[in-house]
Amino acid sequence: MKTFTIGISGVTNGGKTTLAKNLQKHLPNCSVISQDDFFKPQSEIETDKNGFLQYDVLEALNMEKMMSAISCCMENPRHSLVSTDWGNAEETPILIIEGFLLFNYKPFATIWNRSYFLTIPYEECKRRRSTRVYNPPDPPGYLDGHVWPMYLKHRKEMEENVTWEIVYLDGTKSEDDLFSQVYEDIIQELEKQKRLQVTS
Ligand SMILES: Nc1ncnc2c1ncn2[C@@H]1O[C@H](COP(=O)(O)OP(=O)(O)OP(=O)(O)O)[C@@H](O)[C@H]1O
Ligand SMILES: [Mg+2]
Repeated sequence: MKTFTIGISGVTNGGKTTLAKNLQKHLPNCSVISQDDFFKPQSEIETDKNGFLQYDVLEALNMEKMMSAISCCMENPRHSLVSTDWGNAEETPILIIEGFLLFNYKPFATIWNRSYFLTIPYEECKRRRSTRVYNPPDPPGYLDGHVWPMYLKHRKEMEENVTWEIVYLDGTKSEDDLFSQVYEDIIQELEKQKRLQVTS
């Protein structure tokens, strides 16, 4: 059965990973692929004139490897699931792909059944990011000097180029509210797809 593929993208600390994990707990036959698992080693990351490592760009990621992982999961969805997560064999396999730079990568353009984009204001992003420890840790000024300008640039590029519907999510809502909103939307979309399959 054809995999239903969901993209969850958006700003750093918008809550992408949290939402993906919450959805996975409640959706049968659901796998998650995280873009953060596909960063190149630090030795291959460029540095700008201010000494900031250029992590928040497509070039910092091994996107071909990520595409292979996605294709593998779409072709053989049960392979990547632990047996306790298997639903009924009749149930559509679901693949959630979450990461900060999904909808700007052209080879992914045809895979999405539903696309979500989490946003939070700059101040909230700064507050949340300051509570996290990244590897390597953020040097002083990194959010303002690299992460936030790249976010604005990529978001603008996305809005200018994407040809399919993106559902924007207010990342300042509670985890539970975001989960309910997106879960209900996915269930509706899955039902729509089933109806289309019956009539075609
Ligand atoms: N709805 C929410 N309301 C308040 N805080 C949240 C919410 N969702 C996630 N958080 C918190 O915000 C931080 C970032 O969450 P998360 O790791 O899910 O974001 P992310 O978008 O995956 O971030 P990254 O850019 O690092 O991958 C965490 O501390 C998490 O607990
Ligand atoms: Mg994350």
